[in-house]
Amino acid sequence: MTRTDATRPHPAAPQPGASSLPAASAVPFRRLRTALSVSGLGLWLAVPALSAMAVLPADGTGARLRAAGGALALLVLPAVLLAPLAGALADRIDRRLALLIADALRFVVVLTVPLVDALPWTLAAAFLVGCLSVLWAPAAAASLPALAAGESADMAGGGVLVARATAEADPRAGARRTAVRAVYGPAPVAALVFALLAVIANAALGASHRADLPLYATAVAFVVAAALTALVKEVPATEPISVPAPLKLLFQGSGLDRAGRGLGLAVGGAALAAGAAVAVARVHTGELGGGDAGYGAVLTGLAAGLAFGLFLGPRVLGPFSRRRLLGLAVIAAALLLIVDALVRNLVVVAFVTAFLGVAAGAAWSCGAAVVRDPDAEDDDRPRAFLRSVTLVVALVAFAAVPAVAGALGSHRIDAGDGYDLDGSMAAQLIAAVLALAAGAVAYRRLDDRPGIPLVPDLRAALRGEVYVPPSQAVEPEPVRREHGVFIAFEGGEGAGKTTQARLAAIWLRDHGYDVITTHEPGATKIGMRLRAMLLDRDTTGLSDRAESLLYAADRADHVANVIRPALERGAIVVSDRYLDSSLAYQGYGRRQPVEDIARVNAWATGGLMPDLTVLLEVPPADGLRRLSAPADRIESEPQEFHERVRAGFRALAEADPDRYLVLDASRPQAELSREIQYRIREILPDPIPAGTEDATSTFPAITDV
Ligand code: TMP
Repeated sequence: MTRTDATRPHPAAPQPGASSLPAASAVPFRRLRTALSVSGLGLWLAVPALSAMAVLPADGTGARLRAAGGALALLVLPAVLLAPLAGALADRIDRRLALLIADALRFVVVLTVPLVDALPWTLAAAFLVGCLSVLWAPAAAASLPALAAGESADMAGGGVLVARATAEADPRAGARRTAVRAVYGPAPVAALVFALLAVIANAALGASHRADLPLYATAVAFVVAAALTALVKEVPATEPISVPAPLKLLFQGSGLDRAGRGLGLAVGGAALAAGAAVAVARVHTGELGGGDAGYGAVLTGLAAGLAFGLFLGPRVLGPFSRRRLLGLAVIAAALLLIVDALVRNLVVVAFVTAFLGVAAGAAWSCGAAVVRDPDAEDDDRPRAFLRSVTLVVALVAFAAVPAVAGALGSHRIDAGDGYDLDGSMAAQLIAAVLALAAGAVAYRRLDDRPGIPLVPDLRAALRGEVYVPPSQAVEPEPVRREHGVFIAFEGGEGAGKTTQARLAAIWLRDHGYDVITTHEPGATKIGMRLRAMLLDRDTTGLSDRAESLLYAADRADHVANVIRPALERGAIVVSDRYLDSSLAYQGYGRRQPVEDIARVNAWATGGLMPDLTVLLEVPPADGLRRLSAPADRIESEPQEFHERVRAGFRALAEADPDRYLVLDASRPQAELSREIQYRIREILPDPIPAGTEDATSTFPAITDV
């Protein structure tokens, strides 16, 4: 029986998160998400607010530097030393209670800071806010998924339904991402709010009270978050909390090999560059006349840059090695720190810091992508290692950079007009050199394309291609094509390419062409067996590499036995899927290096590429809904997988616009067919062999159907 769209339990269709939750859970889920975002806003406001407050009473540049750095370091210190302890505590007590206690106590602590108005208490408050935040963070991370899963379990009669559900249908995965977004997302907003409050305070309050306003705003955020959390009646404790110890992970090196340590070095380099920029930012902006507003502007730039870099890392320069990009991003961050240190203009400093954030964010996400073992179910450990490196290096940067800056003091360099090299500049330069060295060493250790020169590799990636040095190039096997033309149809699931490929073939045959229609995988006898292995849902545990090789094996057989012979006799080959499917599904979808997939397939096919690739574009949710048969092994991948595949196809098409015709698959079928025909017509040979025209005095004219 064919199921209807409405009843077909396609795992990719429900979007994890609030919208996919049963109606009963949507309200508490949303309320808790808002509470976490507001609390996150408070946490990220506390960082500039407390460090700016610490600077106020300090006398002299050195003392100001140490006070700001001290506040920042004390905020981070508990995350390095006490995180597992706080995690265990958060696991013992009720999640909701943990969130409430953390928010309420942070409210009290922050509120007392402007009232007490003394450096020791500001520093102690920074430490206490850090401690309460490490209690809050794991409870926050576990509470949304618990709420999502708990409601489903209740609806199933109390059993843990999620355990039986497929990983893709698990609403906890989406809820976990929502939680991460709620906690980290407010960072740029908080920095901007801090800058605006600083401007308002400067204009409206006297100099003596100007640090108070952001602190009160922080306190308000915490108390509002507590009130919102109180409105959520219950947070089920289904999600166990386990927080790894950063220092332990760091020293164990997470069991990583040479490349793994290179990865740690790279992420450490990026964290050092970003940490050094933040550590002296308050004093630096003060000297440039920017005060707290300038500090807020610089932090806004950095936080927004980081967010953008995290987004960009996996997406930019598709065919370029992520390992190389990681090294380059760290080097870029270090170089930007040098510019940051030397520039004496606040606006330029804010922009440079934003770019530094982009580079550091991209480095982090490239590191996370590299560390992810595509065959490992659980990729938490390596990521936890990278997080530990980031935390510990940030802590060291916050503590050491201002201390070194204070110790070095100001020096005048007499070259020409004379240049004041102050302590914070020198300390930033030292940090930049260390980060640069870390980036360079990491680049060498991680390089997965040794011997391939960087510049042509980058240039090719900018064109969307993979650079293959002449010595490694796979010589395309000469195809004596006569007049053969090769057209491939590509797209995600349910895009309608099979229909369009068939219509194109009918149209071509109607006009007298010798056409063969074929498809991948499974066009040959061997291919059919491979197809069964690849798409059968009973095939479990197939590694990503093996999957790529099986598709390539099918393709090799397909090219050798079907496509090449047809092209050689002058036929038009219309294939439903070809090589780009592997680049999109196995490369982008499975997150394997696209260049590796391209290389394996270039070998498998002898370098045979289509003359035209028609890409039918459809949002995965719509395409998957269109399918009528039960989902196969690939179709049942989660929606994110299909989103990556779609993005991959798009990137491939953008990189080679001459070969691609990209069409929106939601348009009417007849319109699509017509556009495809127009484009095919451009590459068609004369169907009548040369000479025949003279004999018959006719020329086949193709007219619109
Ligand atoms: P089909 O359903 O269009 O026949 O395609 C079979 C499935 O195989 C589809 O989900 C896409 C997937 N696939 C790959 O993952 N890699 C490939 O190289 C090819 C050709 C298909």
